Amino acid sequence: MPLVYVTRHLHFSAAHRLHSSLLNDESNAHLYGACNNPLGHGHNYDLEVTVVGEPDPVTGMVIDLKELKEIVQREVIDRMDHKFLNFEVESLQGMVPTAENIVIAIWQLLKDQFHTCRLYELKLYETPRNMAVYRGE
Ligand code: NI
Repeated sequence: MPLVYVTRHLHFSAAHRLHSSLLNDESNAHLYGACNNPLGHGHNYDLEVTVVGEPDPVTGMVIDLKELKEIVQREVIDRMDHKFLNFEVESLQGMVPTAENIVIAIWQLLKDQFHTCRLYELKLYETPRNMAVYRGE
């Protein structure tokens, strides 16, 4: 059976501060620069969620894109949109909220949510030029 990859593009805005508890203040300031600002800063994140599966013989769909949108909205966007990621998102507590760590946290929130298909890849754009990709490995 043919496997098809289906992607939904979503968006959220959030604040974060890059600061590692494993480094001293001077090292944090040097490493993260303006992103170490104590009161944080914001990003308009773009998230691409790709699932893979076989098109259903009746509907022709791997997943109803409306359902995919509702799952990501409920599990990710409702938790992260307009939040200060360092303090307000449970799954990011204790880690530096880089795009790398955020995309891993999003994977954990989404990986068990699909039944007719499986989560294949996440792309998280922190800016139009910077993004992190995760495939759950
Ligand atoms: Ni930032």
